[in-house]
Amino acid sequence: VPVDAFDLVIFGGTGDLALRKLLPALFHRFVDGQIVPDSRVIGIAREGLAENDYRTQVRAAIQRAVPSSEYVVADLDTFMQQVSYRSLDATRETGWQEFAASLTANSEKVRVFYLATSPDIFASVCGRLREHGLTTGNVRVVIEKPIGRDLKSAAAINDAVGRAFEERQTYRIDHYLGKETVQNLTALRFGNVLFEPLWRAEHIDHVQITVAETIGVESRGAYYDTAGALRDMVQNHLLQLLCMVAMEPPASLDADSIRDEKLKVLHSLHPIDESNAAQLTVRGQYRAGASDQGAVPGYLEEIGKPNSRNDTFVAIKAEVRNWRWAGVPFYLRTGKRLPNRVSEIVITFKAIPHSIFGNSAGPIAPNKLVLRLQPDEGVKLWLMIKYPGPGGLRLRHVPLDMSFAETFGVRNPDAYERLLMDVVRGNPMLFMRRDEVEAAWKWIDPILAAWEASAEAPKPYTSGTWGPSAAVALIERDGRTWHEDAP
Ligand code: BG6
Repeated sequence: VPVDAFDLVIFGGTGDLALRKLLPALFHRFVDGQIVPDSRVIGIAREGLAENDYRTQVRAAIQRAVPSSEYVVADLDTFMQQVSYRSLDATRETGWQEFAASLTANSEKVRVFYLATSPDIFASVCGRLREHGLTTGNVRVVIEKPIGRDLKSAAAINDAVGRAFEERQTYRIDHYLGKETVQNLTALRFGNVLFEPLWRAEHIDHVQITVAETIGVESRGAYYDTAGALRDMVQNHLLQLLCMVAMEPPASLDADSIRDEKLKVLHSLHPIDESNAAQLTVRGQYRAGASDQGAVPGYLEEIGKPNSRNDTFVAIKAEVRNWRWAGVPFYLRTGKRLPNRVSEIVITFKAIPHSIFGNSAGPIAPNKLVLRLQPDEGVKLWLMIKYPGPGGLRLRHVPLDMSFAETFGVRNPDAYERLLMDVVRGNPMLFMRRDEVEAAWKWIDPILAAWEASAEAPKPYTSGTWGPSAAVALIERDGRTWHEDAP
């Protein structure tokens, strides 16, 4: 279904996010017929680029990101006519008035400002937009992470954006919430009767959330070295996944119903600080080794800072202290330069209370529900099943296996496709509210402080391995292991 006509203005229009993710996502939506001809995409950056040069950049970026089998060239030509460029500098008045006039001439359209820039300039961009009367009406603003580097700076960013836009106009994006499997978690939990009665401490032994990447810091060293894995991934993506698993059933799919429940989970997280960080967290930093691209340098060589104590890997044993979850560990781990790119949520149920099978049946493993976010999006439910044949009752742990690609035979859209259209439609369900972002920082800040106070540097791990051995010890100490998918 096409969405209403819109003007989407991308600040940071020549940047990595715009070219690698946003414009290809919009093009996909265009090819699928969701973007009507009088919608416009306006890239903004400081440099004085000719419109045609910008279009050439965008076209090349789309060709890199979208396989040519998925569209015909004529589509790309038509889409490019809807893309334009404008040079603007938030620190200078030049050009803003003309820009404002070009937008307000179409005031009936939905207007979206996407701030795909460094957060340093959010305040000045928002200030200009307000001065020029561009923030009222059917207008939304999208802000990307990092929303701050701690609670204080996040609040300052939220204040600055809040001076120009109301909370209901503000869309804080966490692209993990737009991933198919994450939305499927909601479908599984609340569209079936099977799981919810078991979804609690009485029946669940523990939860694992892994987001593993094979890439290093790439060209983002300058940002990444000021952030690290805890800020870059855990504060947002992993905590949001944890919230989706742990939240109470919301009354409806209404955005605030869901966000209220997620907020309660964040408030229930057991604090980790100097007193327990050494037991409950592991931070690592990759050394030289091998990745799927061959031999790779270590983090310190890659960013050229031999003394950096930045974390490129984190493992955490978290706990949601409420009636539903008390005593159930949530093991989180994420890192760069790990052996595979795999993101999954694993719910391990409790062992059966009593076995009627003898030793010859083999070991009885607990049920597991595995939600695979990427790659090969799908759901597996591991069960004990009888091995076929007359050789007695031998049991095997095998998955009921559902791959979305095989079941539905459709392309799996990128998270940004869904999220961008949600902004245009005015549906904030998959976006973070101010209080959520700040509650997440409130839990992260004491962990950062504990690490800073510690004399210990991050533990080294060889690129292409599953992080420091301490991360394995973190879970094995409790008699559990990280889930590894058997074939
Ligand atoms: C971003 C992080 O938010 O997510 C990156 O800043 C990371 O460091 C990326 O690589 C991972 O996203 P995805 O969708 O590739 O798993």
